[in-house]
Amino acid sequence: MTELIWDGKYGPDGKKTSPVRLALPFQDVETVNESAQTRNLMLDLFARNQPGEWRNRLIWGDKKYVLPSLLPEFAGKIDLIYIDPPFATGADFSYSAEVPVDLDKEGEQGISFTKQPSIIEQKAYRDTWGNGTDSYAQWFYETLALLHELLAEDGNIFVHLGWQVSAIIKCLLDEVFGLDNLRNEIIWQRFNFHADANRFGTVHETLWYYVRGEAAPFNKQYMPVKDSLIQSHYTGMDADGRRYTLDNPTAPAHGKTGKSMRFGDKSLSPPPGAMWRWKQENIDRLWAEGKVVFNESGMPRVKRYLDETEGTAVHSIWTDVRAINSQAAERMNYPTQKPEALLERIIKASSNEGDLVLDCFAGSGTTAAVAEKLNRRWITADLGRFAIHTTRKRLLSIPDVRPFVVQNLGKYERQAWQSAEFGEDDQKAALAQARYRKFILDLYGAQPLNGYNYLHGLKAGRMVHVGSVDAPVLPGDIDAVTEEFWKAVGTDSGAATNSVDILGWDFAFELNEMGKQKAAAANLNLTFKRIPREVLEKKAVQQGDIRFFELAALDADISCHPGRTVSVTLKDFIISPQDVPRDVQAAITHWSQWIDYWAIDWDYKGDTFHNQWQSYRTKKEPRLQTSATSTYAFPGEHTIVIKVIDILGNDTTKSIPVNAQ
Ligand SMILES: C[S@@+](CC[C@H](N)C(=O)[O-])C[C@H]1O[C@@H](n2cnc3c(N)ncnc32)[C@H](O)[C@@H]1O
Repeated sequence: MTELIWDGKYGPDGKKTSPVRLALPFQDVETVNESAQTRNLMLDLFARNQPGEWRNRLIWGDKKYVLPSLLPEFAGKIDLIYIDPPFATGADFSYSAEVPVDLDKEGEQGISFTKQPSIIEQKAYRDTWGNGTDSYAQWFYETLALLHELLAEDGNIFVHLGWQVSAIIKCLLDEVFGLDNLRNEIIWQRFNFHADANRFGTVHETLWYYVRGEAAPFNKQYMPVKDSLIQSHYTGMDADGRRYTLDNPTAPAHGKTGKSMRFGDKSLSPPPGAMWRWKQENIDRLWAEGKVVFNESGMPRVKRYLDETEGTAVHSIWTDVRAINSQAAERMNYPTQKPEALLERIIKASSNEGDLVLDCFAGSGTTAAVAEKLNRRWITADLGRFAIHTTRKRLLSIPDVRPFVVQNLGKYERQAWQSAEFGEDDQKAALAQARYRKFILDLYGAQPLNGYNYLHGLKAGRMVHVGSVDAPVLPGDIDAVTEEFWKAVGTDSGAATNSVDILGWDFAFELNEMGKQKAAAANLNLTFKRIPREVLEKKAVQQGDIRFFELAALDADISCHPGRTVSVTLKDFIISPQDVPRDVQAAITHWSQWIDYWAIDWDYKGDTFHNQWQSYRTKKEPRLQTSATSTYAFPGEHTIVIKVIDILGNDTTKSIPVNAQ
């Protein structure tokens, strides 16, 4: 076999560098569109450790961790894979966000701004391109190796690439899937023209279509017959106006002698060197349908009616699918979004209803949206927070979208990182914890503080608490911090104020406001800051790029009405606007402009956030509802959880107890 070699393909031991194979459990962050009955059933099955019903899955994470984590459940079970990975520019990671200028002016144009790639996204970009095509080839090779394991024996895979890298990746595909399993090189002509100064205008992208084995299904696809073909070929017309073309029923005989066949009451031999294309029973059927006619030389011809044709078979050059234009209804404002018509063709051609489709570079969620509409099951992942949010909104806008779950690798990814970085020996767990805390305190610019259980550091006269990797900061932690703080005051701890910074990976829903109120009652000033996921990335840490942002604050009113009816009204929302350009900040005159989407779980059960109602901005409807009402089936205590996603894709959650009577 011809082999492509790149720097890094083989390690010093002469063995191929293999992908990360750590399989981590997925955490459910949110379920969407699930009925209350199904939710209860799922909770029940979960409690009895039994598998629940299938849920489509939207996963926030790097394919490097997501793909190996899918292996235990899905190795050999994916029917169709479509991937559209980043293939050239940083544009793959930046996106534009929009704020409506004035909520009271209908149709007002919003201000768009480009959100620069986050550290995680930049890191992924460096992983991919840091060492040019060498690192890109390695990154891709590892992806393909895992995808090969996930693909079913009769599975199909489409790899979508730009012309810049398509030749390199073809060699990798041959190596992983085998040249014999190449079904097509598809050229997708995106544009009609492209202005390139010193070369032919580049108007296409490439899709490599491979299978894992012979049995992979293929459903022929057709496109409407072009007008020009109708005019040139469908020249016959019946008295009732039906257009037809005449088909020649012979094929080359390749040295054999063609047998004679009956056409009505005539027995006819094929012309010399030819044979009849059909069996006698097919000819009899066409004859009975009145579709056989004779030309001037007495040779039979078969009428092919235009209204009976499935269309023109699609070949390997696709010119009939256009790139998404700026006004298209499906446009999500995602720079690399692909048209639904493209995915529709791929999914229809190479899978059947109920099949499982995977795309680990979701972007705006085109694959999942089309799979959903075509009644396939789907799993899609992306490392970009905004991609996940865009996909969620897109799926929600599909009428009757089936329930799906939003997942990440959350605390498992952090635990894996913690043990790799700070040790996992049970005997030395306390030491490992101390090393972990010191690491976070260093990044935060705080000095470690010894002798306390909950107060771990000191920064500019403020005490600092560092949350653990595997649990959210809980109200109990706040009580403990408060208690310990007052014990420490008056000692030589060094605290100059009554302030504590609480650093956490996750926070209990109600913690921000409730914790602050509780602490204020104890005369303590608390600030909650999120430990950013960038902390897990060595390079980001080395570069000192880590920023700890304060949690957004959300205020909402609940009003209870007779008949077990409850209304939620958003009252205020404050975010730290560091990521937003100044002109955009200046254009924001009302707090609700920071909000892109919000959702309510009316009856939170302490498991996963269950999205039962939502309002979000779309191009067509940029206005947001700021209140919602629901009626409970039974009176009593319930917990309402509100989740807000801001225009940058970050979420803030708040829980409020209600007593519906
Ligand atoms: C070309 S775009 C996909 C566009 C998509 N086909 C659509 O129609 O919207 C590539 C996507 O891959 C994501 N991505 C890049 N590297 C990744 C990685 N290592 N793991 C997961 N997603 C990644 C980017 O965030 C981006 O959304």
